[in-house]
Amino acid sequence: MKILETDRLILRRLLPEDLDGLFALYRDPEIRRYFPDGTLSYAETKEELEWFLDGHPDHPELGLWATIYKENGQLIGRCGLLPWMIEERAEVEVAYLLDKAYWGQGLATEAALAIVDYAFEQLNLSRLICMMYPENHASENVARKMGMTLEKVMEDETGQFLLYARGRDRK
Ligand SMILES: CC(C)(COP(=O)(O)OP(=O)(O)OC[C@H]1O[C@@H](n2cnc3c(N)ncnc32)[C@H](O)[C@@H]1OP(=O)(O)O)[C@@H](O)C(=O)NCCC(=O)NCCS
Repeated sequence: MKILETDRLILRRLLPEDLDGLFALYRDPEIRRYFPDGTLSYAETKEELEWFLDGHPDHPELGLWATIYKENGQLIGRCGLLPWMIEERAEVEVAYLLDKAYWGQGLATEAALAIVDYAFEQLNLSRLICMMYPENHASENVARKMGMTLEKVMEDETGQFLLYARGRDRK
C-alpha cells in the first residue's frame, strides 16, 4: 500500500519480502551508528518488520515505511512516523534511515518534507518531533530542513539527545 510519492521516492507499507533489504541496512554499523540499540540481527530485523507490516499496531496510520528509489525500484531505506510518549505527552516523530550509498543527495530531506506534509494535511497532526544524538549532524540538518527547531536537550540511560519540534502552522 502506497503511502506517498515524491519526485524520486515511493514510500509504501513494509512487506515480508523487504526483510533481506532491510537487514542489509540494519546490520551496517555505519548506518546504525546513532541508534541506541546499534545494529540488528536478522531475527531482530524480522521482528521489527513484522511489527510494522500493517502500520504501527496501535496507530495503523503511523509506522515505518519502505522507501523505494523510483529510478531502480530498490529499497534504499525506511522512513515514517513513530508514536512516542515523552514526559507524559503523546508525540509523533519523523523517522528516517537511508542506505549510505544514497546519502548526501537530498533524499532524506525529500522524504521528510513529504512526510511532514502528509502528517499535517492527511493525518491532521498538530505537532511533529525528531530526536537524535547531538553527534548526528546529518539528522539534525534534516530536522532543520523540515522547519523544526531545537526545543530541548534531554537525557536518558543512553545519554543526551536533542528534541527538535515544529507545529503545523510553521512552514
Ligand atoms: C540522516 C540521514 C537520513 C540523512 O540522509 P541524506 O539523504 O544524506 O540527507 P540529505 O542529503 O537530505 O541532507 C540533509 C542535510 O544534512 C546535511 N548532511 C548530510 N549528511 C551530513 C553529515 N554527515 N554531516 C553533516 N551534515 C550532513 C546535508 O548537507 C543537508 O544539508 P544542506 O542541504 O544544507 O547541505 C542519513 O545520514 C542516514 O540514513 N543516517 C543513518 C540513519 C540515521 O542516523 N537516522 C536518523 C536517526 S535520528
